[in-house]
Amino acid sequence: MGQFDGKVALVTGAARGIGQATALKLAAGGADLALCDLQKEWVAETEAKVKELGRRAESFAMNVAESGDITRAVAEVEKAFGRIDILVNNAGITKDTLMMRMSEEDWDNVININLKGTFLCTKAVSRIMMKQRSGAIVNVASIIGLIGNAGQCNYAASKAGVIALTKSVAKELAARNIRANAVAPGFIQTKMTDALTEDIKQQMLANIPLKRFGSPEDVANVIAFLAGDEAAYVSGQVVTVCGGMVT
Ligand SMILES: NC(=O)c1ccc[n+]([C@@H]2O[C@H](COP(=O)([O-])OP(=O)(O)OC[C@H]3O[C@@H](n4cnc5c(N)ncnc54)[C@H](O)[C@@H]3O)[C@@H](O)[C@H]2O)c1
Repeated sequence: MGQFDGKVALVTGAARGIGQATALKLAAGGADLALCDLQKEWVAETEAKVKELGRRAESFAMNVAESGDITRAVAEVEKAFGRIDILVNNAGITKDTLMMRMSEEDWDNVININLKGTFLCTKAVSRIMMKQRSGAIVNVASIIGLIGNAGQCNYAASKAGVIALTKSVAKELAARNIRANAVAPGFIQTKMTDALTEDIKQQMLANIPLKRFGSPEDVANVIAFLAGDEAAYVSGQVVTVCGGMVT
């Protein structure tokens, strides 16, 4: 018996990185998975891995910055699975540069995907959770949303927004037995951080008390805890997963 037996989880940005690790962790606990990413084909690997774990998985194309896409995809998920118990708002991007050089377009893209996308997916899925009178939402924020970072003002603002959104949604939906929490990862080894120079990576490592970068599984473990019944009395919280960097 897994803690997620009979539950359906929707994960955005499920093709790789933290999203893929989260899908696999939830599937290992017994959940069936609705896997969403920009293109359906990108999620094929995650879908195959979930199926290897003996769980049901289906892939859906969804750009989280497009409300029409979300309405369509969430309706498809509801039709296919009949319910959604867990929503993991994981899709996110960076477009880093110093504030004085940042284009309006790079600002808008990051805010639209990271922050507006989280709002739109939460709105669409909580309609279903409200009918069920149960649900768990986990948003993937970042420690940068707590402490800021030179060269990431758009990303920092988007993730701080995700944290404030999480706290507000937790208050609005608690009466319907829906919890909302956020994780705030530090430096996690994924394609997103592969892009950083070796110099920057070494500087970051020097500031991590646990002296290693995080893995997608380190984050997925905390997401699964927050999504599960062991966190039944936890809502509106932000849990950092950063090797002790931000306390
Ligand atoms: N890697 C880190 O160090 C780190 C740290 C803190 C927070 N995060 C957050 O974790 C989340 C996952 O990051 P990751 O490191 O796994 O990155 P990643 O780039 O490996 O994966 C992100 C996934 O999101 C998808 N995606 C991007 N834009 C999308 C859109 N508009 N609609 C739907 N899907 C979209 C991508 O296709 C990709 O599959 C992000 O929200 C990121 O901000 C990552």
